[in-house]
Amino acid sequence: MEVIIQPTYAQLVAVSAEIIRDALLKKPHLVLGLATGSTPIGLYEALVRMHKTEGLDFSSVTTFNLDEYVGIRPNHPYSYHTFMKTHFFNAINIPTENCHIPQSTAEAHEEFCENYEEAIVNAGGIDIQVLGIGTDGHIGFNEPSSSLGSRTRIKTLTQSTLEANAPHFGGTVDAVPKMAITMGVGTIMEAKRCLLMASGESKAEAIAHAVEGPITAEVPASALQMHPHTVVIIDEAAASNLKRADYYKQAYANKQKLLSHRE
Ligand code: GLP
Repeated sequence: MEVIIQPTYAQLVAVSAEIIRDALLKKPHLVLGLATGSTPIGLYEALVRMHKTEGLDFSSVTTFNLDEYVGIRPNHPYSYHTFMKTHFFNAINIPTENCHIPQSTAEAHEEFCENYEEAIVNAGGIDIQVLGIGTDGHIGFNEPSSSLGSRTRIKTLTQSTLEANAPHFGGTVDAVPKMAITMGVGTIMEAKRCLLMASGESKAEAIAHAVEGPITAEVPASALQMHPHTVVIIDEAAASNLKRADYYKQAYANKQKLLSHRE
């Protein structure tokens, strides 16, 4: 696991956006796994800026979103379909048919989940999976106790996730959909590269468990310790519970030095 600690949210966003830009410049048919939540909003803003100012081209990119609530219409103001259109898809030149988001109805969900997995494989697999993290260590909507080998399926959300998402649904927990379709931990682990972003002190405990704790279904993000190419990009506040923060900073500084010698 590579851990990159940046002083601020703006800087962690800049590093994340550069990773995606470099990958896209090398491979125009990039397959991106995308996340919602407040954390990646700055990343999408940065990529939109790169599209507008540098002509970063998304016309051959394919995307797969991690998850979606079950039981709300795709055009619901707080659906992840709406989130992605608002923050990203409507502002770049990606063809609509290249953007995949789990369906927001529970109808025929088993068949849908199988097809979603198949579509990822048919696209050649996910090159970079963007991830946020819940305060309880969840990734996507893989709540604590999710199998670390799980695939795309329906999950019931925990009380803490319902509470965390209540502000998006008018402030009442009752208004938050109780279930979601999410890529599984096993699905995420098959991405060629994972980019886990976290900001703020509220994520410090989850990040410490995910990066330095034991690998356990109690902290689904800890499975990423077994992933061969995961980059954890966090700000100082989210890094504040890490025991080895100084080492990660040193390692990143050395890597930058090495890269600058090569140029
Ligand atoms: C939700 C999403 C996750 C996201 C998490 C954290 O549970 N399903 O994908 O990582 O929220 O969101 P935020 O970035 O707003 O803290």
